[in-house]
Amino acid sequence: MRVLVLGGTGSIGAPVLRGLVARSHDVIALARSESSAAKIIGFGATPLRGDIGTPEQWIGKLPPLDAVVQLACDFGSAMAAVERRLLDGLLPQLASAPTRPKFIYTGGCWLFGATGGAVATEQSPLRPLPAFAWMTQHLERVLATDGIDAIVIHPAMVYEASDGVFRSFVADGVRRGLIRVVGSEQVRWPLVHREDLASLYLLALERVAAGASYIGAALNGFPVGRIARAIARRLALPNVTPEVITADAIAAELGEWARGRAMDQQLSGERARRELGWQPLHLDPEAEIAATSAVEIDSWQNS
Ligand SMILES: NC(=O)c1ccc[n+]([C@@H]2O[C@H](COP(=O)([O-])OP(=O)(O)OC[C@H]3O[C@@H](n4cnc5c(N)ncnc54)[C@H](OP(=O)(O)O)[C@@H]3O)[C@@H](O)[C@H]2O)c1
Repeated sequence: MRVLVLGGTGSIGAPVLRGLVARSHDVIALARSESSAAKIIGFGATPLRGDIGTPEQWIGKLPPLDAVVQLACDFGSAMAAVERRLLDGLLPQLASAPTRPKFIYTGGCWLFGATGGAVATEQSPLRPLPAFAWMTQHLERVLATDGIDAIVIHPAMVYEASDGVFRSFVADGVRRGLIRVVGSEQVRWPLVHREDLASLYLLALERVAAGASYIGAALNGFPVGRIARAIARRLALPNVTPEVITADAIAAELGEWARGRAMDQQLSGERARRELGWQPLHLDPEAEIAATSAVEIDSWQNS
């Protein structure tokens, strides 16, 4: 397949890009800077210089495509408008192509709202965090576009032992000596390791029929306090008890989108396991944190 990846240097996009290249697909990835283009070349893909907010500057340079994976987002105040411009430019071109391309749109766990004791599935109504409400309109638009085979993936919170959604805990530990959690230690995050999530994108590209949505959650809901404590132990902090801050405080610091960190959620990845044979391998984040190498610890301390 010839696949265009948008966001191919990102937390989710990079392992997707590497996975596609490893499976011998012909991969083009949009790069908004020279350094991103260099990373894409390093991953074995072909960079196309451009910004998702100005698709008119690069869509004319695209060869015929079999699939597009949308994983680009800058989390800025204009992210909704930027993605709308992308869809305005790209969808008509894809829809008029003779190849009927697949389009994987990326939603997210925060579109399901706080679930508390319930476990959300793909059938659950969307109750998005206000800062990401625009995403529900965009995914509905993509699913309703004639001429493409649209699929939606809703990633859980995407982690690596010392990166992804755990990065802020590590940064707090290194800079402040005290890790902060938002809301309470009992707030649960659905989790998925970035490599497991990438394997779900590959399955979706290769096996899924149009119109389907999948939740990419390997663990339904994992208490953030346990993550914070595991990282504090690995950093050998004198105090492993996290400081609890409010959603208002994190929103003031990072923006309204960060309120999602206070959402107590449980999401099921069962449909992907059952229908696609998705088999996440990373199921014990505390053990992965504990096993983080001394080299990595040093790189945190020196970053
Ligand atoms: N990470 C999670 O836990 C998670 C969970 C659920 C849903 N999601 C969703 O998944 C998507 C990707 O998230 P992520 O965590 O992988 O983000 P990320 O690590 O911040 O990566 C974002 C990617 O988008 C690219 N990008 C940003 N603005 C761009 C622009 N204007 N033009 C071209 N490229 C642009 C970046 O490229 P450069 O920086 O190299 O230029 C980078 O490759 C987002 O929509 C996010 O809401 C993420």
